[in-house]
Amino acid sequence: MERTLQWRFIPLLALIACFLAVLFSPRSYQITLDRKCGLLPHGHYWISSKRIVTPEGLISGAVEVKGGIIASVVKEENWNQRKSLVEVIDYGEAVIMPGLVDVHAHLDDPGKTEWEGFPTGTKAAAAGGITTLIDMPLNSFPSTVSPETLKLKVEAARKRIHVDVGFWGGLVPDNALNSTALESLLDAGVLGLKSFMCPSGINDFPMTNISHIKKGVSVLAKYRRPLLVHAEIEQESEIEDGSDIDPRSYLTYLKTRPASWEEAAIRELLSVTEDTRIGGPAEGAHVHIVHLSDAESSLALLKEAKDRGDSVSIETCPHYLAFASEEIPEGDTRFKCAPPIRDSANRDKLWKALLDGDIDMLSSDHSPTVPELKLLADGNFLKAWGGISSLQFVLPVTWSYGRMHGVTFEQMASWWSERPSQLAGLRHKGEISVGKHADIVVWEPEVEFDIDDDHPVYLKHPSISAYMGRRLSGKVVSTFVRGNLVYDGGEEGKHSSDGCGSLIFAN
Ligand SMILES: *[C@@H]1O[C@H](CO)[C@@H](O)[C@H](O)[C@H]1NC(C)=O
Ligand SMILES: *[C@@H]1O[C@H](CO)[C@@H](O)[C@H](O)[C@H]1NC(C)=O
Ligand SMILES: [Zn+2]
Repeated sequence: MERTLQWRFIPLLALIACFLAVLFSPRSYQITLDRKCGLLPHGHYWISSKRIVTPEGLISGAVEVKGGIIASVVKEENWNQRKSLVEVIDYGEAVIMPGLVDVHAHLDDPGKTEWEGFPTGTKAAAAGGITTLIDMPLNSFPSTVSPETLKLKVEAARKRIHVDVGFWGGLVPDNALNSTALESLLDAGVLGLKSFMCPSGINDFPMTNISHIKKGVSVLAKYRRPLLVHAEIEQESEIEDGSDIDPRSYLTYLKTRPASWEEAAIRELLSVTEDTRIGGPAEGAHVHIVHLSDAESSLALLKEAKDRGDSVSIETCPHYLAFASEEIPEGDTRFKCAPPIRDSANRDKLWKALLDGDIDMLSSDHSPTVPELKLLADGNFLKAWGGISSLQFVLPVTWSYGRMHGVTFEQMASWWSERPSQLAGLRHKGEISVGKHADIVVWEPEVEFDIDDDHPVYLKHPSISAYMGRRLSGKVVSTFVRGNLVYDGGEEGKHSSDGCGSLIFAN
């Protein structure tokens, strides 16, 4: 079988490779070789480019990968003297960036594998440049709320993942007031806990009240792990009883979950976040607000909390940054999620908050289901499954919509890698620097593509994704997980064999 090889073993080959690379296409750096974990033949190699995103800024040079770890990062000046002596993949001008760390994804495994599952979910993640994914404790069955249920998740994931996977546990009324139960879940290795301040929509994942949350945070303080909160509290409906509502209109759905829900939750949470201050009763704990949608009062309250020293962070998701409520077509339930997508003025404010550093990071909140529950024939927003399917596209979506706001590669790396790694306590991830895991995405920001039936989508149900039909820029060329090339984004797209990702446990 013909295999394309462009390792530059000797200077002559290197010269020819360079020449061909320039002459033909930017995709000439594809490498296809069989090796169990990863598509590369060697455990020690270099990757080079004119654009490498490091903590010290964008550099031209090369990254040395040895035994799955970043062994060195050298700049152009020093690189020129060595490049003929070593094995190297030259990525030209493609961007070499730390792989994305998605701290919020629902892969629905075990129990709901007809919705997604670890194999398709992590395959899509790898194709999207995500190298680490932290799976949410709900939407699978049973929910991950105890050591026993975590074990089921671990068994479902083992040897079936293409990227590294860690787990959040659930903080629910059943375990929240019982330290023994919570400690056993944390001792089993979950990276932190997640709770809901409103009904989650999942029967075995009930909502918590503020006493549960306060108690949970006090236990988390000892472990120095975060609590992730879905911050919405049900308020009186803005829709009057008996009024004539059109369930096919997105605005109807928007009115059922106004920004006041988020604001009410955050106002109540402030009595907990203040415990996390230095010297406070829960010092060492951290509260993380997942998928913030309201860029008004909710954000202002959180900024105040941060300013006075509460240990708080905020994430938002690409769909809140890409879409606006007034643009959502009638009956197009692919766009339904909670909290809802708000108007374009709110979207602009979210971008501003992100660029100003008031919002700390991004996550996918990939939350799929089966088409029968998502794409309802009658287009009823009030009945359709709430959750956006996005996992494979978050990098190009962030970039495509972010470019209009002047987003830089360093910001991309901060929002998608560095800050999420810090949240999850992943000390060895999130940066291209010596000693870190060689978790790397190589991508071409200038290359545009259409997400349509011709585009390889690895998610279980491509049709439910709100991004189908969009034109995006930012094509993933290669994804490395701990030095293993797990995805090669040539014309076809090629993954290494199953099971190349590792499970991550807190310790
Ligand atoms: C607390 O949790 C432990 C471990 O799950 C359990 O054995 C114990 O019965 C629980 N205590 C109460 C009061 O529910
Ligand atoms: C929260 O629920 C628990 C029961 O699980 C109850 O004991 C407690 O009083 C409630 N706290 C508040 C603030 O409602
Ligand atoms: Zn979620």
